[in-house]
Amino acid sequence: MASIFAPETHIGLGARFLAPLRHLGALGFALFWMLAASGIYLYIRFDTSIAGAYDSIGELEWWFGGVLRSLHRYAADAFVAVVALHLVRELLAGRFRGFRTFSWISGVPLVWLMYASGIVGYWLVWDTRAQFSAQASAEWMLALGIGAEPMARNFLGLGQISDRLFSLFVFLHIGLPLALLAGMWVHVQRLGRPATVAPRALAWGMLGMLLALAFLRPVASEARWDPALLPQMLQIDWFLLFIHPLMYATSAAQLWLLTGGATAALVALPLLARRPAAPAARVDAGNCSGCGRCVADCPYEAVTLAGNQALVYADRCASCGICAGACPSSTPFRSTPELVSGIDLPDSTVHDLRRDLQAVLAGRPPGVVFRCEHAPHAAGEAGIALRCLAALPPSFVEYALRKGARSVRAVGCAEGGCAWRLGLELSAERFSGEREPHLRPNVRAVKHANEYAFTLR
Ligand code: HEM
Ligand code: SF4
Ligand code: SF4
Repeated sequence: MASIFAPETHIGLGARFLAPLRHLGALGFALFWMLAASGIYLYIRFDTSIAGAYDSIGELEWWFGGVLRSLHRYAADAFVAVVALHLVRELLAGRFRGFRTFSWISGVPLVWLMYASGIVGYWLVWDTRAQFSAQASAEWMLALGIGAEPMARNFLGLGQISDRLFSLFVFLHIGLPLALLAGMWVHVQRLGRPATVAPRALAWGMLGMLLALAFLRPVASEARWDPALLPQMLQIDWFLLFIHPLMYATSAAQLWLLTGGATAALVALPLLARRPAAPAARVDAGNCSGCGRCVADCPYEAVTLAGNQALVYADRCASCGICAGACPSSTPFRSTPELVSGIDLPDSTVHDLRRDLQAVLAGRPPGVVFRCEHAPHAAGEAGIALRCLAALPPSFVEYALRKGARSVRAVGCAEGGCAWRLGLELSAERFSGEREPHLRPNVRAVKHANEYAFTLR
């Protein structure tokens, strides 16, 4: 359906800068698929035996197999950087507690799986860097002292490395990324409409950058793995292999303490930094028809349908009010003195919204502004702040226009800044008529950045 909005003419500089950060998780998925595609090709060309592995990688022609090999490695580095930025962004934004606990805690094992996949990948090259990494990993495992001894002895030159052990590495380099993919799927299960597909420009831009890097700085193997040698002077991949120099600068036990402690701290953070939660949305059986719009719009999968009634999982609820904005019973045109919606926030009801709007309209202002509470507020404006712009049922716009406001505006937060993930998207779809509940055709909407201006036709 064609959009009725005027083209976007203005986006602030800060919003432009922050927008790509919103896509870090999706970019992580894009990088995973790049790794999978280049990895499948490399696997086809790879000889999975100790005698042949090193040469089969060296024989890749520079202009195709070599480029894909370099792409595979650079994509792995970019994956680490993007996931680290994603983690830091969510941390700095305080998005790790309450209803986000599941997303946060399910992200933590992904870091381990990501590193394990990358490190084992290095071993397959069977050069002295692989030797260094495998031996350092073996020493680290030995320090833990559980179950790793036979493998560690092999690496440390105390036993024969067999083709079977090498096959185990290959198996791990396929199995660990598959476990990572399963973990990524679990990670987004508590999010409505999770953004797992990066915007095209961003994904192609990233692929182009990595390909350019692969052409300009092709990666190379070190000398062949030699059990008689102690590898020295290696080029370390600081994104993936930094833990080995870190272990030699400290000790295996200290590295366990550091990594184990950091993992425990990340897992404990949502519990340690707990805050009192706002009251969860409540369903009113008498006003719920079971239409499912609240289920479709909830950004945190906190509502489900039980029979033909909505049901809220209170511990998952963000108290954003988006469900109330979606419910067909949330219309101010209803004549009941007490406006009860099918689903509503106990501390900020649709009835309160109608009462506040009526109070504003009683002052006969030239225009009314509905504003997300995170959006900037112009002094002297007759405005109503909402927890999220998508908590505004569109029928309130027509109500304000019919009850005397000459113009109505709705102002959302900055692009990429929606505290409830989907507020801007859902508002845009509702106001453009692509999604229920939408504006009636007699209301004209013009979009300008994250603002909407409405008038009666
Ligand atoms: C392989 C690594 C990872 C991938 C591919 C990934 C991907 C994603 C994606 C696609 C989303 C949904 C974004 C949206 O639709 O709003 C998301 C959300 C989230 N991720 Fe990750 N993630 C990864 C690792 C992590 C890690 C390590 C953490 C932190 C420990 C983390 C914490 C979160 C949180 C808290 C959210 C929810 C944000 C919100 O509620 O607004 N993620 N992730
Ligand atoms: S307030 Fe409604 S839309 Fe928001 S998280 Fe809770 S149930 Fe979902
Ligand atoms: S949107 Fe309203 S009527 Fe529809 S299922 Fe949800 S609470 Fe019930």
